[in-house]
Amino acid sequence: MALLEIENIHKRFGKTEVLKGISFSVDKGEVLSILGSSGGGKTTLLRCINFLETPDTGKMKIGGKEIFNAENKDKVSEKQIRENRLHFGLVFQSFNLFPQYTVMENLTLAKELIEKSRKKDGMSKEQIREKAKELLENVGLSEKAQAYPCELSGGQQQRVAIARALSLDPEVLCFDEPTSALDPELTGEVLRVIRELKNTGRTMIIVTHELGFARSVSDRIMFIADGRIEEEGTPDEVFDNPKSEKMKAFLSKSLENP
Ligand SMILES: Nc1ncnc2c1ncn2[C@@H]1O[C@H](COP(=O)(O)OP(=O)(O)OP(=O)(O)O)[C@@H](O)[C@H]1O
Ligand SMILES: [Mg+2]
Repeated sequence: MALLEIENIHKRFGKTEVLKGISFSVDKGEVLSILGSSGGGKTTLLRCINFLETPDTGKMKIGGKEIFNAENKDKVSEKQIRENRLHFGLVFQSFNLFPQYTVMENLTLAKELIEKSRKKDGMSKEQIREKAKELLENVGLSEKAQAYPCELSGGQQQRVAIARALSLDPEVLCFDEPTSALDPELTGEVLRVIRELKNTGRTMIIVTHELGFARSVSDRIMFIADGRIEEEGTPDEVFDNPKSEKMKAFLSKSLENP
């Protein structure tokens, strides 16, 4: 059974309809990359999935359980939305670390707050710190626990952002162009971390312009244009035999200006 099911998501801002009926599913352990030209709705889709925007129509299920249904969206409490959000992690293009906190605090504060609000036998502060240390080690930044974000390179900040997303143990980890704010020489270290996450069976949705990376790390590719899924398939299908004219045009443009 699919881990995540998205059904007929529509989203408009004012008069502009940005998402025009998006449906897809993601299996556990699957890596889905989303490609598309600027303004096609990729970020909006990730924000809808992460409960940062509310779709106008559609449904979302995780593990078969409905977590969003536009028909009763006004009846859901803020608390429930916060809980729903925890199924997902989102890593932004611009890192979005808290500048006033150390790396360790960036990795532990949200988890501590959640454990406190639940008041059940969750993780202790010490356990949360131990987990954070482990995550920092996994992204190769053990020695930076006490550093502040401004003391880190862009690539290091992005690796901290990935560790922070993992600290809440999301079922689906989403990335919105995780390397597009980085100098080319820092891109590799971030892509390497994402590739390692795939090898540990992490379920991921990755919006990226790194076509070579998308091809090698993804189980499936989805191409979005003008708020619709134009093309979907395995990397070989989509890159070697694109069917839609828009996908063909996107690929030839990307090859000219990588
Ligand atoms: N909060 C908002 N209010 C109004 N319009 C918005 C809002 N967010 C996005 N849009 C519009 O929705 C469209 C899709 O934007 P979105 O950021 O989802 O595209 P994208 O595919 O992520 O593009 P890019 O590749 O440049 O990141 C754009 O026309 C954008 O101007
Ligand atoms: Mg975007």
